[in-house]
Amino acid sequence: MYQVHSVAPHLLPQLLREMPKAELHIHIEGSLEPELIFALAQRNGVTLPYANVEALRAAYAFTNLQSFLDIYYAGASVLLHEQDFYDMAWAYLQRAAADHVVHAEIFFDPQTHTERGVPMATVINGLHRACVDAQATLGVSAQLILCFLRHLSEEAALQTFNEALPFKTKFIGVGLDSSEVGHPPEKFQKVFALAHAHGLHLVAHAGEEGPPAYMWSALDVLHVERIDHGVQAVHDATLMARLAKDRTPLTVCPLSNQKLCVFPDLKDHNIGQLLDAGLCVTLNSDDPAYFGGYLNDNFLQTFAATGLTAQQAYVLASNSFEASFVPEVQKNQWLHALKQTFQKFADQD
Ligand code: ADE
Ligand code: ZN
Repeated sequence: MYQVHSVAPHLLPQLLREMPKAELHIHIEGSLEPELIFALAQRNGVTLPYANVEALRAAYAFTNLQSFLDIYYAGASVLLHEQDFYDMAWAYLQRAAADHVVHAEIFFDPQTHTERGVPMATVINGLHRACVDAQATLGVSAQLILCFLRHLSEEAALQTFNEALPFKTKFIGVGLDSSEVGHPPEKFQKVFALAHAHGLHLVAHAGEEGPPAYMWSALDVLHVERIDHGVQAVHDATLMARLAKDRTPLTVCPLSNQKLCVFPDLKDHNIGQLLDAGLCVTLNSDDPAYFGGYLNDNFLQTFAATGLTAQQAYVLASNSFEASFVPEVQKNQWLHALKQTFQKFADQD
């Protein structure tokens, strides 16, 4: 492992901002800022159950995952046309570029839209066009991951997958999100096997609020390559050893966990424990418009609250490239740029 030279404490925030990084756990619908929700509502003639931006923001006081999801799905109801999906993704990608995100693997929830009568083509083409423009204009590489809503049936997921198949070149994998408890991964065994047969990458949310058993079935029944969240793994020593041995990445989202009351306070987050156990942890924003921060906000606030070090900053950024679904040559180029950034900050000591 690359040894980071000591970085003066007052330089750590700037290092966190400037270091190149990948974001692997961002729901694009969770990047819809209240201002854009209201602008799209007006453009599309959609009536919202909130008087204005301030009233909507005031409702962002969550007690658990479900209390958030209810508002998140309401916010997504303003998305109707291809340009709406483009505008949402483009706004996120500009924010990501400002945070020195060089690569993003972006979740989208097609069922949230197709259930309202929005065609699959509208959703995927709008998002994909923004990803293409991000590479050309911002130098940010961006890929899409299609998520199934786990509170719906596997039949619905299979139908969604079949509707998405004509656009298979426009997404790189499938994931599993929405209400976790009561909807274990094994419910989606068939659709994940089908996605694998089509050469797609596999990821799933597990161990956010749900038990370690859901992480075991994500690994052993769905055969996922990464687990999204996974913070409940600390309650199962055998699982921790397995994750460390296989270097299965956990895409951890501290501000999300704080806002959804998974931990009482950011200082109580177990990211340090997961890193100390040698797990391939990455840091991510989940739903930045709802949880009070994009990727650099997550880095800055988590490091300030938990006392993570510059060496751990390097590990998190390096893990984000290792865990990404890009070719090795590309990973090595980003790792080289990461080391150069650390060198620059060490030299200022
Ligand atoms: N969809 C959007 N954000 C989510 C989260 N944190 N957990 C599960 N599903 C989600
Ligand atoms: Zn998530």
